[in-house]
Amino acid sequence: MKKVITYGTFDLFHEGHRQILLKAKGLGDYLIVGITSDYFDIQRGKMNVKQSLLERIEGVKKCGIADEIIIEEHAGQKVADVQKHCVDIFAIGDDWHGKFDYLNEYCNVVYLNRTPKISSTSLREDQFGIVRLGVVGTGRIATRQAHELKFVSGVCNYAVYNPNKSSADKFASKHGISLVFDNYDEFLEKVDAVYIASPHDTHYDYALRSLNAYKHVLCEKPMTLSGNEAEHLFSVAEQNKLVLMEAIRTAYAPGFINLLAIARDGRIGKIKDIEAAITKLIPQTPHSREYDVNVGGSFTELASGSLLPIIKILGKEHKSLNFDFFTNNENVDLYAKAYLKYDDAIATAKTGIGIKSEGQLLISGTKGYILVNSPWWLTKAFEVCYEDTTENEHFSAPFPGYGMRYELADFIRNIREPELVNFKLTRTDSIALAYMMENFIQIRKERLGALAC
Ligand code: CTP
Repeated sequence: MKKVITYGTFDLFHEGHRQILLKAKGLGDYLIVGITSDYFDIQRGKMNVKQSLLERIEGVKKCGIADEIIIEEHAGQKVADVQKHCVDIFAIGDDWHGKFDYLNEYCNVVYLNRTPKISSTSLREDQFGIVRLGVVGTGRIATRQAHELKFVSGVCNYAVYNPNKSSADKFASKHGISLVFDNYDEFLEKVDAVYIASPHDTHYDYALRSLNAYKHVLCEKPMTLSGNEAEHLFSVAEQNKLVLMEAIRTAYAPGFINLLAIARDGRIGKIKDIEAAITKLIPQTPHSREYDVNVGGSFTELASGSLLPIIKILGKEHKSLNFDFFTNNENVDLYAKAYLKYDDAIATAKTGIGIKSEGQLLISGTKGYILVNSPWWLTKAFEVCYEDTTENEHFSAPFPGYGMRYELADFIRNIREPELVNFKLTRTDSIALAYMMENFIQIRKERLGALAC
């Protein structure tokens, strides 16, 4: 008996899927279909798959062509499957041409013609439409967003805004965006949602105007530099039934969510201390926003990230919050430490733009600790360590790119399915972070004022 194997996501089972299964079956006597698990799809960066694994299995089953269905759970599984199931032929659509030649060592690899003009992506777009996203600001982060958005279906960068039109023009032509604006109201008229990646002190105004114009908002961190402003934005979003999300990419990345689950499951006992550090040496140039005396500094630049694991694990009800910092001659903090005290735990968040330190996350408990090495904010792997080192565990959850595609996919999902609960970075999380920003800025001002006297 000749055995054939093929793989796919098989989301919203369509004619292209039926045809490829028929062709694959025609190559032998017995067809095995490998269907990707939900987690594997997320991990490999295939975002916005609409159906659950069970629904996708049901779709393949119903067509009656497969003799056996297996689940593909991780990269590198195909070799093991081919050997385990004594497969003769590996068949796949020619959109993968050449990618699986390495399997020729184990079986015969055949690339089959793909059925034209149909795909799960186009079905998803027909069914749910495309969210027209407007990009506010055209700097480094917006460039990353434009790269990552290509991996998220159901959304496109439709227009770009920058008060400096020539910057917007450059960005638009580089990323194939046809609409360019230097007038915010005209820009808002053309889009369904906005992604705000402008300087920190402009976030509030842009976000508020967008929400008042009934546009969903994904806003780069820190969303605001004051707690009241964050509260106000969320109340307008709620009133107008809109999605408002803060873009802290770590919060949405699969590895970080896995890390939180492991930290909370009790294996390291009671968590007593968290140390989180992010430092990034940023050269000071005359116009660098990171060194702006009013809104720049290491804390506003990086603390949304280093405070995130602390508030996600120990909560937002700290008993005290204190700071130490070094500034440059213009009173911009180059390095800052936030000390948080809880009823039964302590934590430190460290940030630096002019002083470099080891960027690690260390979560200490009564039975062991979790260590995530730099860059922990793109959590791809971590160690759980115990007194008996032979019991140490290693977890890994690799993901492609900068990790932004996960927050973008969640943003689109929340727009489409507002009934879904967003637990990854909640309204209260963002508000708490904004109050901490405000607190730091206030203390920095007071302390420097006192030193000047
Ligand atoms: N396939 C095909 N013809 C199509 C669509 C898919 O032959 N029009 C094949 C793919 O080449 C692959 C299998 O069907 O061998 C499963 O592909 P999958 O990725 O699930 O389907 P797509 O519709 O391409 O999904 P997406 O748009 O999400 O990438």
